[in-house]
Amino acid sequence: MAHRAMRGAAMSVITAVSGFVLLTVTVVLGQDVWGVTYTSTQICAVKGSTVELRCTFRYPSTINGINTRVVKKFWFIRDENNEPVDLKTESEYRDRVQYQRKNNDCTLRISDLRESDSAEYKFRFITNDPRGKYTGSPGVILTVTDLQVQVSRSAVRGDFKSADLKCESSCPLPDNLSYIWYKNERIITGQTSNLLLNYLDPTNRISCAVRGYENFHSPSVVVKDVWDVTYTSTQVCAFKGATAEIRCTFRYPSTINGINTEVVQKFWFITHKNNEPVDLKTDPEYSGRVHYQCENNDCTLKITDLRESDSAEYKFRFITNDPRGKYSGVPGVTLTVTGPQLQVHVRRSTVNSYSNWKELTCHNNCQSSYIWYRNGHKLSSDEQYLQLNTFDSADSFHCAVKGYEQFPSPTVYAPKLPSVSVSPSAEIVEGSSVTLTCSSDANPAASYTWYKEDVINPLIYQNQHFFFSILPSDSGKYYCTADNDLGQKRSESRTIDVKYAPKLPSVSVSPSAEIVEGSSVNLTCSSDANPAANYTWYKEDVINPLSYQKQHVFSSILPSDSGKYYCTADNGLGQNKSESRTIDVKYAPKLPSVSVSPSAEIVEGSSVTLTCSSDANPAPSYTWYKDNKVLATRQKNVYHFISIKLENSGNYSCKSENQYGQKNSTSLSIDVQYAPKLPSVSVSPSAEIVEGSSVTLTCSSDANPAAKYTWYKEDEDSPKASGHNFTISNIRPEHSGSYYCVAHNSRGRHNVTLQLTVREDFPKAAKLAVTGITLVVFLVIICLLVFFLLAKKKPSALFPVPGNRRDNNNKVSCTSPSQHTGKTESPPSHSEEDEELNYASVRFSTNQTDPIYYNIRSAGSRRQKVKEEDEHVEYAAVNFSPALRTVHQDSEEDPSELYSTVKKI
Ligand SMILES: *[C@@H]1O[C@H](CO)[C@@H](O)[C@H](O)[C@H]1NC(C)=O
Ligand SMILES: *[C@@H]1O[C@H](CO)[C@@H](O)[C@H](O)[C@H]1NC(C)=O
Ligand SMILES: *[C@@H]1O[C@H](CO)[C@@H](O)[C@H](O)[C@H]1NC(C)=O
Ligand SMILES: *[C@@H]1O[C@H](CO)[C@@H](O)[C@H](O)[C@H]1NC(C)=O
Ligand SMILES: *[C@@H]1O[C@H](CO)[C@@H](O)[C@H](O)[C@H]1NC(C)=O
Ligand SMILES: *[C@@H]1O[C@H](CO)[C@@H](O)[C@H](O)[C@H]1NC(C)=O
Ligand SMILES: *[C@@H]1O[C@H](CO)[C@@H](O)[C@H](O)[C@H]1NC(C)=O
Ligand SMILES: *[C@@H]1O[C@H](CO)[C@@H](O)[C@H](O)[C@H]1NC(C)=O
Repeated sequence: MAHRAMRGAAMSVITAVSGFVLLTVTVVLGQDVWGVTYTSTQICAVKGSTVELRCTFRYPSTINGINTRVVKKFWFIRDENNEPVDLKTESEYRDRVQYQRKNNDCTLRISDLRESDSAEYKFRFITNDPRGKYTGSPGVILTVTDLQVQVSRSAVRGDFKSADLKCESSCPLPDNLSYIWYKNERIITGQTSNLLLNYLDPTNRISCAVRGYENFHSPSVVVKDVWDVTYTSTQVCAFKGATAEIRCTFRYPSTINGINTEVVQKFWFITHKNNEPVDLKTDPEYSGRVHYQCENNDCTLKITDLRESDSAEYKFRFITNDPRGKYSGVPGVTLTVTGPQLQVHVRRSTVNSYSNWKELTCHNNCQSSYIWYRNGHKLSSDEQYLQLNTFDSADSFHCAVKGYEQFPSPTVYAPKLPSVSVSPSAEIVEGSSVTLTCSSDANPAASYTWYKEDVINPLIYQNQHFFFSILPSDSGKYYCTADNDLGQKRSESRTIDVKYAPKLPSVSVSPSAEIVEGSSVNLTCSSDANPAANYTWYKEDVINPLSYQKQHVFSSILPSDSGKYYCTADNGLGQNKSESRTIDVKYAPKLPSVSVSPSAEIVEGSSVTLTCSSDANPAPSYTWYKDNKVLATRQKNVYHFISIKLENSGNYSCKSENQYGQKNSTSLSIDVQYAPKLPSVSVSPSAEIVEGSSVTLTCSSDANPAAKYTWYKEDEDSPKASGHNFTISNIRPEHSGSYYCVAHNSRGRHNVTLQLTVREDFPKAAKLAVTGITLVVFLVIICLLVFFLLAKKKPSALFPVPGNRRDNNNKVSCTSPSQHTGKTESPPSHSEEDEELNYASVRFSTNQTDPIYYNIRSAGSRRQKVKEEDEHVEYAAVNFSPALRTVHQDSEEDPSELYSTVKKI
């Protein structure tokens, strides 16, 4: 459906609800029942205000008999594929537009106006009839503007300075508006759009507003003198060595007092001389480094090869042909010349230490535009801050100021592999002082921590770890870490090996139990030393070392290996000696030997000591044997006879025994020697001896060694015979007399006397014998009595066997006609000779069959001997009666008895 719009226009100023509608033109669109009426088609509104675009619309109440209903109504400023877009769906309007909902009112309200809201706004509505759509076109042109203070003219009138100001808008404003002027936010005089401002003070800020719309006043302006110098920036930052450019424009009145103005001098200055500014070009400090590039009202100062001392306030000055026409742009431009002191500051997350978040700041004295580099490659960011959420420890960063890329900041990076140095670098000896130093290339500088492997806690939070006097226990592996805000790096481990002299060596013996001969034994020497020590084994009292090994091995240890051992350890830094260790080799007895002391012939009664010598460890116990019979067990190795007796003779041996074994000695024969005992004599034949026959006298004596015998006849110096027997052949009466039998050996001698009586014939001889017999019997009885009394106290052996006598009992003899001549033995045993006297009476008979035999034996105790020696009693051969025999038998055990064999005649 097409509708022709008809435009009727009328200019008017209306007031909006809360806006600033400066101009309204009412437009009625559509002649028929379909139409949109905009109260104003051109609206000028001030930025920030709210404006209403007033609008009504109409439509037929029925179409083709159907009641018309408006299903959609909206404002739009643009189409999209010929479809108008509802303003409310436009993001930049969504919250700022409101539609009037009442009936046919289609007023649009836009709040918080922006300059971009300037556009043509159209209203459109859609009914329930498919053809019932209508757009109010052309729409309302909204111009959003603000007031501007325009300086139309400024002038110097003498010393008096003024400016003509006008409050203007980009919209045509009605002439009869009333204005308000502000100086530094304070209302000043003046109600028109024009203002003549005196006293141009550059600190004054001027703005204007339309009365009634005071909220929407213009931005403030500084109204400047017509004499003016404007610098592009008041702060200039530049790097040492670079070139600084300071720009300015300047102006001045074209005529002064009707004379055209000309600039006769223009220059930059920083110092005065006599209150007159001095041209920089004449300053020797700037010689050759200052350039002016001036064109029209432009004059740029260029300083090359900047120095830090160039930091100063630079001012531009120009001088005109009018004597008063001199002007300096004050304040000037502050130039800061810095070294290339860009720095990257690093900040890392303080939230948690695992976060990689880091912020790098490019820091310098001049604010500027920055360039960031990662590993030398430019990044897109031109901010002063660079935030990193991930960080590779190998990355490095630096920044630069745009335009000053040749002066980049130092590069920052995480620590590189730290290096460890040890001082002194030579061998480390116990007790010396040692310094470990950690260093790592890092920026920012790293902080260091020292660790020892296997020690949890750090040793020190410094780059140096110092040992004043290093100990062996300080040996180990050390490493350090280097940290900065970009990361951490650990050094390789460094082994500290403290050299030291050997410590006290210890000796170990294996096996530790008892050491038995023949076993294998190891002596081991160990000493803590670095470098490892060499060992030497010694045996005490042996000059030369046993071995140069840590271990001294006895593959089969000998008893002679017993002793004290020690070892030394030497490693070049010193020597140390172990304590001695005693090795005691246990062994079974060696073959014992029996020795006797004195070693000479052993004489009865002497003190004799037998010694069993046996080598054994531990000391053995001894068992003594005599003739293979145990004498004594568990004895010492000596067997002692205080006074050896005849019966102690025999073969002695000993057995040596300890827990490791036993051994028998060979036997030692002990032979107790003694002087001949009282010999016994006999006559043979015992039968009747016929004159002229031969008679043998036999002498026997107990002695060791065996006695030798010699026969003497009384009163004859030369011996009659030697040997047991003395045979007298062809016996005759003149052979009567006393005979001596001397028994002798190396120990002594003993005499016995035999009285031989030879009678001429038997009867005669018997008669002659009677008187002698009577005397003899009497004496014998007395002797028997004495011996009997003594025998009660002393036991005695019976008749000893000649030559094998062991009986050493005291004997008492009542006769002592004998001679003792052998007194060679040691006094205690044989101080006195036994006394003996034998009598034989030989009777010649022709018919007697029984032999007459007398064997009279006498012995006396040594104690009685002295007394008995005085009794020089002689005995003759006696014929005993049978009664006497009984006496003899009764006293058989009495050693002091006188014995006789009696033949009954
Ligand atoms: C300005 O003039 C218009 C007509 O030209 C008049 O309607 C309006 O009221 C006047 N405004 C003031 C403030 O005098
Ligand atoms: C041997 O070692 C001990 C302890 O280890 C030490 O005190 C001593 O000084 C050392 N002796 C020598 C001679 O080095
Ligand atoms: C001694 O040492 C040797 C080797 O060094 C070893 O074979 C032997 O078994 C050791 N003997 C003992 C008794 O420890
Ligand atoms: C230890 O013994 C080895 C081999 O015999 C020898 O080379 C070294 O010099 C010795 N070291 C010392 C400290 O005696
Ligand atoms: C040592 O001699 C004694 C006596 O002759 C004997 O009984 C014993 O068995 C012998 N011992 C040894 C080990 O020969
Ligand atoms: C003692 O030993 C010797 C020699 O072996 C031997 O002739 C003698 O009969 C031994 N004596 C005794 C009393 O056994
Ligand atoms: C000594 O005489 C006896 C007896 O008359 C005789 O048996 C013995 O053999 C004689 N001895 C010597 C050595 O003549
Ligand atoms: C034996 O005794 C007699 C008489 O006393 C003496 O004259 C003689 O010297 C003795 N004989 C010896 C060998 O002693």
